Amino acid sequence: MRSPQTHFQDIAMNLTVDPGVASGGPPRLAEPSPHLMPAYAREPVVFERGRGARLWDAEGREYLDAIAGVAVTNLGHAHPEIAEAIADQAQRLVHTSNLYSIEWQERLGRRLCSLSGMQRAFFCNSGAEANETALKLARLHGHRQGVASPRVLVMENSFHGRTLATLAATGNPAVQRGFEPLVPGFVRVPYNDIEALRQAAEEVSGVVAVLLESVQGEGGVRIATPEYLRDLRRLCQENDWLLMMDEVQAGLGRTGAWFGYQHAQVLPDVVTVAKGLGNGVPIGACLARGQAAELFEPGNHGSTFGGNPLACRVGCAVLDIIERERLMTQAAVLGRRLLTTLRARLADQPAVAAIRGHGLMVGIELDRPCTDLVTRALTEQRLLISVTRDRTVRLLPALTCTQAEIDDIAERVVRLVRSFLGGRQRARD
Ligand SMILES: Cc1ncc(COP(=O)(O)O)c(C=O)c1O
Repeated sequence: MRSPQTHFQDIAMNLTVDPGVASGGPPRLAEPSPHLMPAYAREPVVFERGRGARLWDAEGREYLDAIAGVAVTNLGHAHPEIAEAIADQAQRLVHTSNLYSIEWQERLGRRLCSLSGMQRAFFCNSGAEANETALKLARLHGHRQGVASPRVLVMENSFHGRTLATLAATGNPAVQRGFEPLVPGFVRVPYNDIEALRQAAEEVSGVVAVLLESVQGEGGVRIATPEYLRDLRRLCQENDWLLMMDEVQAGLGRTGAWFGYQHAQVLPDVVTVAKGLGNGVPIGACLARGQAAELFEPGNHGSTFGGNPLACRVGCAVLDIIERERLMTQAAVLGRRLLTTLRARLADQPAVAAIRGHGLMVGIELDRPCTDLVTRALTEQRLLISVTRDRTVRLLPALTCTQAEIDDIAERVVRLVRSFLGGRQRARD
């Protein structure tokens, strides 16, 4: 990875704004801070405020957000009801600790269980922590069965977080490098390949659970087929494995259902959520049903901040808004429109290897590395996108986007990809 300094210099040398985007000159660049660990190659733009799918930088320039803080601000920026819930709760009670009962936590737990088909919730602060919780449940489940070294089957190309256990579960050697020895107890199999799982059932000892995403977001927007998930559910049943779905990115409406696995009509044993649950207020949850919901005893697990009144009240408000505004249906409709437009407008580009999507999770895979597109999108198109696995442009717009905003995102992405690939622009561009 380039150093933040080099990244900054590269950008400064290449600033241009596409004439198709409202002008106002290049954005003012922020220098990388000497007081922050250089863990991120940050884009040197400082956003000061947002509203819906729009952001404004320190000089008032407007940007269109097609990434929603990486599937977090699913209701858009500065949603008035969320702002109101935060302000009101902050004036009443923010934190008491899990030594006492927390009414908003109980309400949110009840709500999430009824939407997901689960029975109990454990609250934490992030996706990685939610997955850590799931992995601890898997180990307890194994030990209850007398398995001394429980193993969890995980997928190639997956992403489950950056803590040591979730990093080991993640199927991307690039993010694991340097952090060895990896936490043991994981066996990797190819995604969407039921035969590989059947083979593992025969050959691998001590398997107690399978952990996977219904849509691999960081892995380039790869979608588990309903048949695969149904076969997997059966296989887990036959072997007494916990089926653990990581819905941290795909969950809470983004794919057109509350949870990605619901498209396949299967019921997992464990479900993890985070990202969109707080619309930017940190919160995560691990949900479970059946035996898996009864495994923890007091003292087994905990979190100081997890499930505090502020985060849980916001979580309840987020679910209210998604339900009331039927944002799942909207995500399905807008996602289809985005996918159809991109496929039609990029059909003549042989360097576009595939365009995949499920609701408002869309990936455009190129035949070459394209990480520079994040910067070019920002500076040339005033657009926020991400690039994952080096060659897939990923779009995760807010579920509250209007049709016009989705069309605008599609147009800017088409211009960006065409100009990157050096293809001739159509007359209407
Ligand atoms: C599917 C999935 N699981 C887990 C995580 C980790 O979440 P967090 O960054 O909140 O720890 C992510 C983050 O991108 C994710 O996409």
